[in-house]
Amino acid sequence: MRPTSRIAGFYARPLAERVAHVQPSLSPQAGAWLARGGGLDVATADRMSENVIGTTGLPLALALNLRVNQRDYLVPMAVEEPSVVAAASAAARMARLGGGFTGDADPSLMTAQIHVDGCADAAAAPATIAALAGELCALGDAAIPRMVARGGGCRAARARVLDAAEGAVVVELDVDVGDAMGANLIDTVAEAVAPRIAEALDGHALLRILTNLALGRRARARCELTADAVGGDAIADGIARASRFAELDVARAVTHNKGVMNGVDAAAVALGQDWRAIEAGAHGFAALAGGYRPLATWRRTATGLCGAIELPLALGLVGGGTQAPGVRAALELVAVTSTQELAIVLAAVGLASNLAALRALASEGIQRGHMRLHARRLAGVAP
Ligand code: MEV
Repeated sequence: MRPTSRIAGFYARPLAERVAHVQPSLSPQAGAWLARGGGLDVATADRMSENVIGTTGLPLALALNLRVNQRDYLVPMAVEEPSVVAAASAAARMARLGGGFTGDADPSLMTAQIHVDGCADAAAAPATIAALAGELCALGDAAIPRMVARGGGCRAARARVLDAAEGAVVVELDVDVGDAMGANLIDTVAEAVAPRIAEALDGHALLRILTNLALGRRARARCELTADAVGGDAIADGIARASRFAELDVARAVTHNKGVMNGVDAAAVALGQDWRAIEAGAHGFAALAGGYRPLATWRRTATGLCGAIELPLALGLVGGGTQAPGVRAALELVAVTSTQELAIVLAAVGLASNLAALRALASEGIQRGHMRLHARRLAGVAP
């Protein structure tokens, strides 16, 4: 049975009780890791990076109350900012009153870019590559046989002319990477197909790398709340007006999106995801239509508020950072079965984080809650 994410008074329980509460959801290894206080031993760290001199730490916490597509999720978060976990949990509780979040996500399509310079006839490149697409996909698939065996592989190839006079072209291959984040797979495909592309376009293949603008891998979440759930009509109005402010002003949109990413990044770090890739993709997507725009928006409805978010999320459940100690425990806690499911959960967390920020900003202001939690932190670390 899936545990409920609504755990009354969790924050007030002693830490050992919180750990004991989640133990039944964990494997023996993950449970033992958490019982030891979590963390990363220096010998493992030494194998993970060059020039290691120690480890650093962040609190691992659980965001509660999240309900997405009728399922409850405990969301592990690793973050130093004191209000992030409480804010996401509080907003998820408000959303829960209206049934929680709904969401959906694209298949796991990532895109390889092969940058070709000095093409003899750049303008002809789109047609040349369209005619060669099947061959390029087969070449790419041959370089990633295990992914193909798992049902993934190259799906499409196309070329875009970047500058006809310079002969600059980019060829892109879309690859289904299944439950991997896919960076290594995509880079392997890019390098495998580049010589054939350079030959076909009579140019020089230079860069062969994925794009972190993972447009083929977007996730969306939505929720509806009554005005009462957020504290009344005046606050609901304020949230919708705050959303509009972010749509009208880039400087505000950046901060608005920072509030979204507070939750997304905190969960991504705990879950061993490449949060730099997620950040780069999110802000690239926010700027895609020309101006930089908010990733999440809120509108008044007849009874309250309706919120929606969309962003690209290149996540992995296998490979990369997901093997690190602690990440396995975090993945067991969030208990998803696909990267699509995880992407929907993270999108919902982003929307919840944004709701919490806008609600605070549109009512008492952000400082009261921040300063209360900040004071607690200072009390804890004072010499
Ligand atoms: C602080 O970490 C995040 C906020 O600035 C987000 C926002 O202004 O929407 C509160």
